[in-house]
Amino acid sequence: MKKPTVVSLFAGAGGMDLGFKQAGFDIVWANDFDKDCVITYRKNLGNHIVLGDIKDVKSEDIPNNPDVVIGGFPCQGFSINNKKRSMEDERNHLYKEMLRIIKDKQPKYFVAENVKGILSLEKGKVIELIVNDFKKIGYDVDYQLLTASDFGVPQNRQRVFIIGNRIGKENPYPEITHYNPNLKKNQQMTLDNPNLKPYVTAKEVLSHLANRRISYDPQKNGKGYIYNHIARTNVADTFWGRKYKVNQHDICDYLKEARNKSEWSTQKIDEYFGYRHTAGHWFRKDNNSGSIPNPEDWWELKKLLKFDDKYDKAVTTLEEKTITFEQSLRIANWDTPSDTITATGTEIHPNKKRRISVREAAILQTFPDNFIFEGALGSMYKQIGNAVPVFLAKLVAREIKKNL
Ligand SMILES: C[S@@+](CC[C@H](N)C(=O)[O-])C[C@H]1O[C@@H](n2cnc3c(N)ncnc32)[C@H](O)[C@@H]1O
Repeated sequence: MKKPTVVSLFAGAGGMDLGFKQAGFDIVWANDFDKDCVITYRKNLGNHIVLGDIKDVKSEDIPNNPDVVIGGFPCQGFSINNKKRSMEDERNHLYKEMLRIIKDKQPKYFVAENVKGILSLEKGKVIELIVNDFKKIGYDVDYQLLTASDFGVPQNRQRVFIIGNRIGKENPYPEITHYNPNLKKNQQMTLDNPNLKPYVTAKEVLSHLANRRISYDPQKNGKGYIYNHIARTNVADTFWGRKYKVNQHDICDYLKEARNKSEWSTQKIDEYFGYRHTAGHWFRKDNNSGSIPNPEDWWELKKLLKFDDKYDKAVTTLEEKTITFEQSLRIANWDTPSDTITATGTEIHPNKKRRISVREAAILQTFPDNFIFEGALGSMYKQIGNAVPVFLAKLVAREIKKNL
């Protein structure tokens, strides 16, 4: 039987593409304008990727009638209310390229992946605009925020998946398979669904590499090889931290008082910011989970709760500070899924004096061991940090395949 076909935009190193391939799709055409991404992609997925800016690619140069178009369009600097931007500029938004190609190629389904932040951009107007644009060209559209660890990926990465179809079917999302055993309230979830398994931890998937030396050469490992087990070793770094000491309990009391006087509930504040639970932490005096709003949120919160200037300076004045390995704010977790692997490769290994290696980052993103990254060290970290976890992409792809 002929495999359903995929056209892949903004393909990067190919995390999402590999997931679709593993689910039984044939990727017939892909594009990215980053040279290293394209070299990695060709090595692992094939020569069907075209190097170049998508804005320069004519629709007629892309294969007709793909079953699915996929792509994680960048959305940096997206603004719809900014009066200074002309309509001309607005057309430069990259999702419009995806829209153009979907309109011209009429795939049955499309999947667009994006960062969680897209939901709160312009207080939700950006996602609304994007969804409406896809609806206007004839698609039923849904979106969901998926947490990779809920699906057995050893990483707490959250990504928005916008799925659309024009064949009158449902937009299917995979069912969660894993739960956080450290959260008591999740015990109820496991009672309701006894098949849920505990989260996969970083330790489970990385411990075999912890004592391996870092090396540019592939290292023999039983019958196979370990590739790309290389890492930055400078663990000292800088970060922007508060200049003045502030006591979270004091801020919490202060914010609670302002909230109680206002018409805002914690839940409404979370909705306003487009967060899930963050606002809850501002109003909680618990050393483990209470938190002080970051400066940007502080100013926004001030508009809602109209509090005075008492803590403005203390909360919002930042300075660049040095962090060392021991103090690092970004030590990857060991006994839980890891924090989100970012494109800058800053994550520090939980018990080694080095960054996590390219291979370790790839494992946390569920790339298989034989997927080899090309380019300079920083570029490899970036390719991995930008990717959709392969396994999560595979689950999404599998659901779509059932509907085709
Ligand atoms: C978030 S990454 C996609 C990652 C990919 N989905 C994966 O799973 O590996 C976005 C990609 O868009 C590419 N990109 C950004 N602007 C582009 C443009 N104008 N034309 C082509 N590619 C572009 C970047 O080089 C980057 O690799």
